[in-house]
Amino acid sequence: MAVLECVIRGGTVVTAADVVRCDVGIRGGRIVALGDELGPAREIIDARDRLVLPGGIDSHVHLAQPMGEGIVMADDFASGTRAAACGGSTTVLSYCLQAKGQTLREALKEYHAAAEGRAYVDHGFHLIVADPTPAVVGQELPALVRDGYPSFKVFMTYEGLALSDLDILRVLEVARESGALVQVHAENYDAIRFLTDRLERRGDVAPKFHATSRPIPVEREATHRAITLAELIGVPIVIVHVSNSESMEEIRRARARGLKIYGETCPQYLVLTEQDLDGLGMEGAKYVCSPPPRDRASQQACWEGIETGVFDLFSSDHCPFRYEDARGKLNPKARSSFRWVPNGIPGVETRLPILFSEGVAKRRIDLTRFVALTATNHAKLYGLYPRKGTIAVGSDADIVLWDPGCERTISQKILHHGADYTPYEGFRVKGWPTLVMLRGKTIVRDGECLGGAGDGAFLKRETCDWPSSRSSITN
Ligand code: URP
Ligand code: ZN
Ligand code: ZN
Repeated sequence: MAVLECVIRGGTVVTAADVVRCDVGIRGGRIVALGDELGPAREIIDARDRLVLPGGIDSHVHLAQPMGEGIVMADDFASGTRAAACGGSTTVLSYCLQAKGQTLREALKEYHAAAEGRAYVDHGFHLIVADPTPAVVGQELPALVRDGYPSFKVFMTYEGLALSDLDILRVLEVARESGALVQVHAENYDAIRFLTDRLERRGDVAPKFHATSRPIPVEREATHRAITLAELIGVPIVIVHVSNSESMEEIRRARARGLKIYGETCPQYLVLTEQDLDGLGMEGAKYVCSPPPRDRASQQACWEGIETGVFDLFSSDHCPFRYEDARGKLNPKARSSFRWVPNGIPGVETRLPILFSEGVAKRRIDLTRFVALTATNHAKLYGLYPRKGTIAVGSDADIVLWDPGCERTISQKILHHGADYTPYEGFRVKGWPTLVMLRGKTIVRDGECLGGAGDGAFLKRETCDWPSSRSSITN
């Protein structure tokens, strides 16, 4: 048999099911052997005192997304995926936003052109359906599912993006027929418009009022409505970026009725609060995202959701803008009202360290749950399993060596994204990736990015058989 290209020796391999001391043999970019005494190899990587994890999959990332007049996203595919790699993620699922009047195929052409030759990690696209014409819904979507794009996102808020319930029902029906999974951004658009107008009339325009304009009931109502629409069609959905216990309760109640509703939360809902939006001057703009971070009780609730399985997915919702930038958070209109502060914060590089440190190191979750939340469940729900998201013979050799004892202070200085700040500045973490491998190639070692733009490949994804019970997706 041909000699192994690489053996990762002496580490503790973690999957969503097990924690096992064994070596990992790699050939041709894939894992070909697991066990002891795997024989000679061209390269031996010493993994003593390291956890050997499947590469992280961040299934909620915005890169190079056009943001409308005068606003520019801080990350293109090069800087955003380089940051992902340095933070231990080897796959990102980014968004392809359809512009009004544009077909989804036209939009995809632009996003593929933006990613081509630039990505440091593997990537796929979720389709944001913003202009659901009969042709887009009836013809394009089913064909695109067959072509490797089996997930869509629909918005219940945002000017120019919010779909009516009727349009959401139409998209859900296509998803049911084609086997796609729909992500829902659940916030009530009219309620936000009403509250925003009222706040502005009162002169309450500082960044902190962004949170006031989208309180928990706005999210809870839309979550309930999205679930109801999915129930009518009989199709699974993912409620993305869930921030609070009332929305979680809607997910729990739906599951109790036998519905397949999956939940995603993000670092900002575990470690930030609305107090962060109340900084001096415009500083709060650094934390403006939707839904907004809530209070300590909501943080606690989200942790319970992480621990008990309400959440299947832990993603970053990386949506970066520069702060000191007239095309970013401090654009000319932003001082006149929070309405004009672009929504979104960076987080693709800090996702794994924050969950490991706050979750595993503080004993809220175990290692297998960490892997499920950060890699395996993303692969299972979005059509990449078992190629991605696990350490198994036949899977891509996307592997992270993780030092569980490494202490770091998160700081803009050590990050690789295109934003000029991190909302987690000064946050202490325990646990950091020391080596990241993409299909057998080491792309990060000791904080240094060794990979190149173009190492990452586009991933054509499959439709899945949705797990018939929640317990088969989470552990
Ligand atoms: O504020 C946020 N989350 N921006 C990103 C867009 C979205 O809704 O996911
Ligand atoms: Zn969203
Ligand atoms: Zn998002």
